[in-house]
Amino acid sequence: MAGSTQTTHDRLLDYCSGWSSDIGDLSDENAHIAYFRQELPRLLLDLPLVRSLLSDIRAGAAYPDIRKTGFFENEILLYIDDRRRFSLRLYFHAGGEYTVIHDHNAWGVSGVTSGRLGVVWYRLEGKGPEGRDAAEGGAPDPARLVRIDRRILSAGEVTVTRPLAPGIHQTGNPDALPNMMLTVYGRPARRLYIHEYDPVTFRAFRRYPPRIRKQRFASEVMKALDGPPEP
Ligand SMILES: [Fe+2]
Repeated sequence: MAGSTQTTHDRLLDYCSGWSSDIGDLSDENAHIAYFRQELPRLLLDLPLVRSLLSDIRAGAAYPDIRKTGFFENEILLYIDDRRRFSLRLYFHAGGEYTVIHDHNAWGVSGVTSGRLGVVWYRLEGKGPEGRDAAEGGAPDPARLVRIDRRILSAGEVTVTRPLAPGIHQTGNPDALPNMMLTVYGRPARRLYIHEYDPVTFRAFRRYPPRIRKQRFASEVMKALDGPPEP
């Protein structure tokens, strides 16, 4: 198909369906991560496609569907592999803004299409109340959160995030102009929430996607309708 007649969706599908086909030959998730470290920069630096994606978002086009969000309100889902081996998601960071400190349920490979991407990594130290080591994914509330690294990446450079506690991080924008981050995530762990952390008290909070949050509320209000249990 001639490039000029393709929609943004077609052009992104070209990338993503090619990725779906390529990773079928790879043995494990480490090979998937290595593959996306190599391949995601090509998409990040495809500025004609990046521009048409931004233009479609600005116009409220049918694709991408900006009403669909995941864990974060600045997130847009672009693609999910039909075997759920990876997804491609987009995030905006305002100038000078960083996300809350959080973890993820899957590995991720991330980079920005313009400007620079700031990433700060943390390590949980100490024992959770259940006695499991916090870094192993045990309840992390009283653990200490130690900043272990900070990096600034140029457009087209990518960084890898590990799942759960070993990948606790913030992403953001060290510059004044807004940026757009694209992340490929691997297959998520079976956890309906991610953790976010208070940077002062190190308390952990569960963040649910809005859809799950509404379902949980509905379930709780249904129980409340019946009133407190009989003494
Ligand atoms: Fe993140």
